[in-house]
Amino acid sequence: MAFAKKSEASRAHDNGHLYHDYVNPQWVKLLDVLEMNVTYTRCEGASLLTSDGRTVWDFLSGYCVHNIGHNHPRVIAALKGELNACGPAMLQSHVSDLAGEMAARLCALAGGRLAKVFFCSSGSEGVEAVIKFARAHTRRAGLLYAAGGFHGLTCGAMSLMSAPFWTQGFGPFIPGTEAVPFDSAEELEKKLATKKYAAFITEPVQSESGVIVPSPGYLRDAQALCRRYGTLFVLDEVQTGMYRSGPFLAAHHYGVEPDMVVMAKALSGGLIPSGAVLMSEAVCDSIYSSLRRAIIHTSTYSENSLAMRAGLATLDVLQDEGLGERARIMGVALRQQLAQRLAGYEMVAEVRGLGMLSGVAFRAPKTLRLRVLFEAFSRIHPAMFGQVLVRRLYKKGLLTQICGNNFMVLKVAPPLMVEDGVVEKFITDLVEVVDLMHAKASYWTEALGIARRALSAI
Ligand SMILES: Cc1ncc(COP(=O)(O)O)c(C=O)c1O
Repeated sequence: MAFAKKSEASRAHDNGHLYHDYVNPQWVKLLDVLEMNVTYTRCEGASLLTSDGRTVWDFLSGYCVHNIGHNHPRVIAALKGELNACGPAMLQSHVSDLAGEMAARLCALAGGRLAKVFFCSSGSEGVEAVIKFARAHTRRAGLLYAAGGFHGLTCGAMSLMSAPFWTQGFGPFIPGTEAVPFDSAEELEKKLATKKYAAFITEPVQSESGVIVPSPGYLRDAQALCRRYGTLFVLDEVQTGMYRSGPFLAAHHYGVEPDMVVMAKALSGGLIPSGAVLMSEAVCDSIYSSLRRAIIHTSTYSENSLAMRAGLATLDVLQDEGLGERARIMGVALRQQLAQRLAGYEMVAEVRGLGMLSGVAFRAPKTLRLRVLFEAFSRIHPAMFGQVLVRRLYKKGLLTQICGNNFMVLKVAPPLMVEDGVVEKFITDLVEVVDLMHAKASYWTEALGIARRALSAI
């Protein structure tokens, strides 16, 4: 019988029973517990239509994938055009004009030292390339990274991450990596002065760490120190790039010129995997240094024509629709409104961010009545508070998430084209939920119900 493996447990699931049985049952269970296991039938712009006729507004963007909105017609047309043309795909024996065009566009937009591109298919793969390139270029083994950051879940990328939630049980990781506190040039210099390090790798704004925006001079100081001690200065712009923070790269906001930049996620418009490492001429020359080394670092899918076509169309959309400027202006307005309307709620610590990457940071309440409740279910799981908030917002038709390395921060990252009215709805609904969590016992009793369901599902 087809699909004979279908289990009793999975029969209860209309949504994703094959996924449950053959891919990852825990993911299905988690979405079930949160009552977020929904079938989406059509996704356009910032809206996600569900099979039961509801509209959910996307304020997560697949963790900053959907900068131009879901299923942009120009990206779809570019992909269809490429498929219809029956051009060369995965030949591994030709020079890709499309990759050349895409690289030229990226370098022109990035500027500074960034003059060459290595293409790959994900952010993690880009980080892996950075590790190799930095070591080969400097002939040093050490790698410094900013504590709390997120760089991906392959072994090399995880070697640059300090959060045990992700790394526990998967070690040992690559040797020679060390963390320094984010936003401390002083601590960075202490390490760099040993001249052991090939690269210092950081996100310009730490996304999963809680949308941590550094002090204005930090990245410039970090860059100067890296140059002084012969260490490559590398920015992971997997989330912040492609105009998410306002300019094309967050590096531009801080006036720095990194030696390498990793990009992915929004790079190809959200329909096909793509990643890129932008690097200086000098780094590229030292990797691809001779005919013998012409293919010393490659990847099968890296320059595939669908990703390149989608990437070119995505850049066109971002520029033609002025989405960077929109992100800059809207982001400031959003944070101002949120800060104003959430002021005075004791559990709201801060609203922060850059461009259309914002975080609402929560904290434990001081009022005894709330504190008892808060602690009761924080003890169940540290992410429980955030997940209840996410679920509440979801019930109001808003898809959000808490940060992967900081469960007390709600991330706010809609597509950059999101309509003003939808942003207003988000603000109104979030304020309502925050008000409820401060005022009504029912918020907490419902939350405890979810926590119990979660526990019984484990
Ligand atoms: C800042 C950052 N770097 C790297 C990665 C890894 O990207 P990928 O999931 O495409 O491997 C992520 C993924 O979320 C990320 O947020």
